[in-house]
Amino acid sequence: MGMAERIVCHPACKVGKGKDWAWDPAGRGCSMGMGLGCRQQDSEEEGRRAKKYGPIVRINAFHRVSVMILTPEGVKEFLMSPQYPKDRMVYRRISNLFGERFIGNGLVTVCDHEQWHKQRRIMDPAFSRSYLIGLMETFNDKAEELMEKLEEKADGKTEFSMLTMMNRVTMDIIGKVAFGLELNALSDDRMPLPHAVRMVLEGMTKARIPLLRYMPGKQKLVKEVKESVRLLRRVAKECIDQRRKDIQNGKEATLDILTQILKGDALEETRDDENILDNFITFFVAGHETTANQLSFTVMALAQHPDILERVQAEVDEVLGAKRDIDYEDLGKLKYLSQVLKESLRLYPPVAGTLRWTDKEHVVDGIRIPANTTLIFSNYIMARLERYFKDPLTFNPDRFSEDAPKEGSISAVQGVVGKAVNSSTDTLVNRAVEMRDATMSALCTANERDKMH
Ligand code: HEM
Repeated sequence: MGMAERIVCHPACKVGKGKDWAWDPAGRGCSMGMGLGCRQQDSEEEGRRAKKYGPIVRINAFHRVSVMILTPEGVKEFLMSPQYPKDRMVYRRISNLFGERFIGNGLVTVCDHEQWHKQRRIMDPAFSRSYLIGLMETFNDKAEELMEKLEEKADGKTEFSMLTMMNRVTMDIIGKVAFGLELNALSDDRMPLPHAVRMVLEGMTKARIPLLRYMPGKQKLVKEVKESVRLLRRVAKECIDQRRKDIQNGKEATLDILTQILKGDALEETRDDENILDNFITFFVAGHETTANQLSFTVMALAQHPDILERVQAEVDEVLGAKRDIDYEDLGKLKYLSQVLKESLRLYPPVAGTLRWTDKEHVVDGIRIPANTTLIFSNYIMARLERYFKDPLTFNPDRFSEDAPKEGSISAVQGVVGKAVNSSTDTLVNRAVEMRDATMSALCTANERDKMH
């Protein structure tokens, strides 16, 4: 059976149906970005404004002024500099959900530059190349397990959510490689964590609505979100306690994300277990949900473009042949697959953008930006602007081929995601990206190979 037949798009899917600003085919919006204020409707409306008014757009919401900056110069100016912190008011909204501490002061939400920098430097070793090479075995095993599950389901009649499958496999992977946990979310449908993550993400989106937690019709949702946050923090605590016990019993420490989180805490003057839990949950959620979204979008795009799928298959065949396991070196040879993943990230970014704050006045592209303003950066919108990408709504991985004429756009748009998170110590995020790419390549290639046998 062809892949396209196996994949079931959500009925809300508008991609490729003539909509200008198509968003998430699952009708659900993106990962962490949602919590930061990037809803589908907002992005569509802001995109229309950008087309109408130009790449620097003022947005008024009650007494607050925000400016959306969609120029490469603006991205560079504000995201490459430590002078512009994350916007406290916005990030605070996801630190706690309905009064329950969620990702608190973790790496995503910490707004003080010095504190952020310290945390980032400590995390770097957990993203070293040698560590990543050691993860290939897990990636391969989990990819194989995913294929077995997909085969069971693919009877040509049953509809199932590819996103759910991807969420489960990426959760198993991050659990194992970052925290040494065997979660088995893929094999155990009753496992409560996937549902808890879904609820907290919904909570992040809904927390934008003022006073929602007091609305009579929303009490069930609020209760469920709070319970989910508590469940995540409980799991985190148990895992941390176990790791500490292992260390006390002389067990050799694995180099992983949890080890680095614990090291970071040991260096603090005021040690705080709650902070450790914040970072556990930050990496747990940020490390799998984004990747699952990107994988699902990529599968959807491949299903919609059989010619591209064929090229991917041919490359996988050529590079891997009948090999079961992918080696780290193979990843660099899967060039076309890598282009497909980049194009998927361009058109369907799991995180739509980021925000910063300026307390000083600026002039960007001749336009005055007042002091005390929230700055909004959207890679989602930039990727859909004709001024940066030729025929922007077309899924065309050849934009990223080595010999394609360099669209200035590509670095501009990558800049939003890349520079936002890279500004001073870039190892962590580069490696997170490598980790993501390795996971995705392993999962995608397993998918392609399985299709052929
Ligand atoms: C397709 C996959 C991914 C995408 C699209 C993505 C995107 C992003 C973006 C745009 C940010 C910046 C958010 C902001 O500053 O407002 C971010 C931050 C972050 N991501 Fe990812 N990410 C992905 C995968 C991962 C993975 C695999 C991990 C961990 C293993 C991870 C961990 C983090 C962390 C810890 C931060 C905060 C970094 C900091 O502020 O220093 N992400 N990500």
